[in-house]
Amino acid sequence: MKLCIIGTGYVGLVTGTCFADLGNEVVCVDNNLNKIENLKKGIIPIYEPGLEELVKKNYKNGKLKFSINLKDSVIKSDIIFICVGTPTKKNSNATDLSQIYSVSKKIRNYITSKFKIIVTKSTVPVTTGDEIEKIFLKKKSKKFFSVVSNPEFLREGEAIRDFVYPDRIVIGTSNARSNKILKNLYSPLISKGAKYINTTRRASELIKYASNAFLATKITFINEIANLCEKSNINVEDISIGMGLDKRIGSRFLRAGPAYGGSCFPKDTKAIVTTANKFKTNLSLVKSVIKSNQKRSLLLLNKVNAILKGKVKNKNICFLGVTFKANTDDMRDSSTLVMIPTLSKKGAIINYYDPTGEKNHFKKIKNVTFSKNVKSALHNSDLVIIHTEWNDFKSINFKSLIKKKNFIIYDMRNIYSPSKMKKAKIKYFGVGR
Ligand SMILES: NC(=O)c1ccc[n+]([C@@H]2O[C@H](COP(=O)([O-])OP(=O)(O)OC[C@H]3O[C@@H](n4cnc5c(N)ncnc54)[C@H](O)[C@@H]3O)[C@@H](O)[C@H]2O)c1
Repeated sequence: MKLCIIGTGYVGLVTGTCFADLGNEVVCVDNNLNKIENLKKGIIPIYEPGLEELVKKNYKNGKLKFSINLKDSVIKSDIIFICVGTPTKKNSNATDLSQIYSVSKKIRNYITSKFKIIVTKSTVPVTTGDEIEKIFLKKKSKKFFSVVSNPEFLREGEAIRDFVYPDRIVIGTSNARSNKILKNLYSPLISKGAKYINTTRRASELIKYASNAFLATKITFINEIANLCEKSNINVEDISIGMGLDKRIGSRFLRAGPAYGGSCFPKDTKAIVTTANKFKTNLSLVKSVIKSNQKRSLLLLNKVNAILKGKVKNKNICFLGVTFKANTDDMRDSSTLVMIPTLSKKGAIINYYDPTGEKNHFKKIKNVTFSKNVKSALHNSDLVIIHTEWNDFKSINFKSLIKKKNFIIYDMRNIYSPSKMKKAKIKYFGVGR
C-alpha cells in the first residue's frame, strides 16, 4: 500500500519505518526541514534501539522516503497517518490540538477523487475524530475520505518490537471499507498473533487514554505502597513479586521508583480528566494519581535531604541517568527536570551521565555538569543517585571509581541488592526498602 506518515517523531518514524519494512511504499513527512535532510543522510533524530539500521535498510531499497512536501505525499498515498504531537496546553490541562487541526486542514486540500483513509495515530481526546471529519466535510464529499482512529501503544526503547508484536491493534471506524483496508495493512502482524479490534472511533480514542491512565495508576499505586514499606521495614520488591504473581494483577508496571514521566502518562492523565470534565464526569481516581505523582519528586528530594542530614550545600551529587526511563533519549517530563534544578538551588554540585549524551535542559543551571562517562561522573561523589535503569549502571564497582571513602548511594530503581551493599560496606538506600 502507499502510505503517508505525517510527523516524523518517536511514533511517526517508527511506524513509517516498520510499515516500509513490511513491504509498503512509505513517505514520512515532517515540517522540520533539518530533520528530513538528516534522515535522508541516515542521521536519526531520536535514540531508539534498532531504528537506525531499519531506516537505512528501507531508505536504501526505496521503500522508505522522506519529504517536506505534504501535498505530493498526500496525493500519492492511499492511507495518511497523522503522527504529530498533542502536548498539554500551556495554561490548562487540556490537549493542544493545533498540530492535528492544522495538518487536517492541509490534507483536506489534497483529497482528490481517489478515496483516502485519514488515520489519527497521535493520541487525541474523544471526539477529535468527529472534529477532523467536520473539517473535511466542509469542503469534500464523504465518499472520498474516511477518518479513522488507530492509537499507538508502542513504548519508547521497545518501539520496534512493540510495533511488530503488538498486544492489540485498535481500529476505530464504522466504515467497513476502511476497516477492510486497514485489517489488510496490518495482516502481517495479525498473522503473528496480534489481536485486531474494530470498534467505534470514540471508543478507540478512549481506549488509549484509559490504558495510559490505568498504567499510570499502577505505577503510582506501587510508589505509594513503597512509601508505606519504607516506614514499616518491608521491602517493596517482595510486595511487587507477591502481588504480580496474581494473574489478575500482573507484574508489569509494579516497580517502585521515581515519579512517572515521559511524553505520554503525564499529559494523557491530565487530558482524560479534562475530557471527563467536558462530559460532566468526575475521574477522581485519576485526579488523585496526578496529584500523588506530582508530589513524588518532592518526596524523593526530601529523602535526599535526609540522607545528607540536611547538608546539601557543596555536596557532590552524581546522577546516573536523567531520561524518564532507560533506552530512550526522551526528557519530556522526566523527574530529573524537577530534582536537578532543586538540588542546584540548594547549593549542590551536580555531575550527571546519561548514555544518550548531554541534555540542553541543564545547560543553564548552576553547578550542573555533564560527564562523558560513568567513571568521571562518579569520581568525586558524596552521593550517587541512580535515576534511570540503564544496563550500563547495573554492575558498577563503585568503590574503585569513587575517590571519597564515605560516599552514599541512593538507588531510585532498586537495581542493587541492599545486602550486597551492606557486605561491601557501602551506605545504600533504595526505594521502598
Ligand atoms: N512517544 C511515545 O512513546 C508515544 C507513544 C504512543 C503515542 N504517542 C502519541 O503520538 C503522538 C506523537 O508523539 P511523538 O512522541 O512521536 O511526538 P514528537 O514530538 O516526537 O513528533 C512529532 C513530529 O511531528 C512533526 N510535526 C508537527 N507539526 C507538523 C506538521 N504540520 N507537518 C508535519 N510534521 C509536523 C514535528 O516536527 C515532530 O517531528 C502524540 O500524540 C503522542 O501522545 C507517543
